[in-house]
Amino acid sequence: MSGAVATIATMRIATLTSGGDCPGLNAVIRAVVRTAAQHGSTVVGYEDGWQGLLEDRRVQLYDDAFIDRILRQGGTILGTGRLHPDAFKAGIDRVKANLADAQIDALIAIGGEGTLKGAKWLHDNGVPVVGVPKTIDNDVDGTDYTFGFDTAVAVATEAIDRLHTTAESHNRVMIVEVMGRHVGWIALHAGMAGGAHEILIPEAPFDIDDVCKRMARRFQLGEKYGIIVVAEGALPKKGTLDVGEREVDQFGHEKFQDISGMIAKELENRLDTDVRTTVLGHTQRGGTPTAFDRVLATRFGVNAAQACLNGDFGKVVALQASHIDLISFDDAVGELKRVPPKFYETAQALFG
Ligand code: F6P
Repeated sequence: MSGAVATIATMRIATLTSGGDCPGLNAVIRAVVRTAAQHGSTVVGYEDGWQGLLEDRRVQLYDDAFIDRILRQGGTILGTGRLHPDAFKAGIDRVKANLADAQIDALIAIGGEGTLKGAKWLHDNGVPVVGVPKTIDNDVDGTDYTFGFDTAVAVATEAIDRLHTTAESHNRVMIVEVMGRHVGWIALHAGMAGGAHEILIPEAPFDIDDVCKRMARRFQLGEKYGIIVVAEGALPKKGTLDVGEREVDQFGHEKFQDISGMIAKELENRLDTDVRTTVLGHTQRGGTPTAFDRVLATRFGVNAAQACLNGDFGKVVALQASHIDLISFDDAVGELKRVPPKFYETAQALFG
């Protein structure tokens, strides 16, 4: 378990945020800077993720009023970006030279699965790194939650709440598409919190016939409307609905093709019901973090800085049963954390 600083070392710590942004990144940066300052250490921030490290674009961060106030601010003051793993690996000598020139003793990499894989690789190649997991998708393994997730769920839940009233007024089915590339955590939590009548997640391929039947039954029983929450990465069972082939971008990420629109078309054809879709997209990633995310991000930041000061490298901070622990990179990036079938079954009990 991580904890207080045993060895008081004065260090120059570097940090960066990489991958998609999420609410809480600035809370981590603030916590890192303030914790380091308490031990006479300083923090440098690289801009735009790994790219800034490669190009030696850095800013000195001070424990001042500006840093104190970023707790509530969404996004990341350092900027973020994605760098192809091959470009990153090819630049290892440049990265090492830049860190040496700036007299950096330790690096805190804040990011999702891809970033943590890069951080592990860097650590395996001799750079002292500590990882901080972030993603609204909540799919990093080894930690009960990642910050950003709670905010995304709050945004999506509020949207679902609002859609209930307009759906009921117009006797419509509303389909709400939320983020979740490979996992359905946001869909599941927001769908349950918002009282959705159907939740579709990537972990459980759906049968469009069953979805239509359950919705039809609602209307037969006298209900006037229905709410379906679908994760962007949800897919139908093979052979049940043709959704075409998904293209893949340069990072190997699937490009999504309007799953909510395809479901809407089927429902309209089969049910003779008015259907509307709402794609929440990046609204789930923007804006100020919830209290939960601010606290989790702050705990991660303090513990990551303490791990550096203790020389505890090659680890990732993680929330485990309400404690912050240090886990190995392998435990964090080995597999994606998916929704367990039992949890999904609990939600299914209230479908229709
Ligand atoms: O990984 C987090 C995430 O929010 C996914 O849910 C989503 O598919 C993706 O990022 C979108 O990222 P961007 O539009 O920034 O490429």
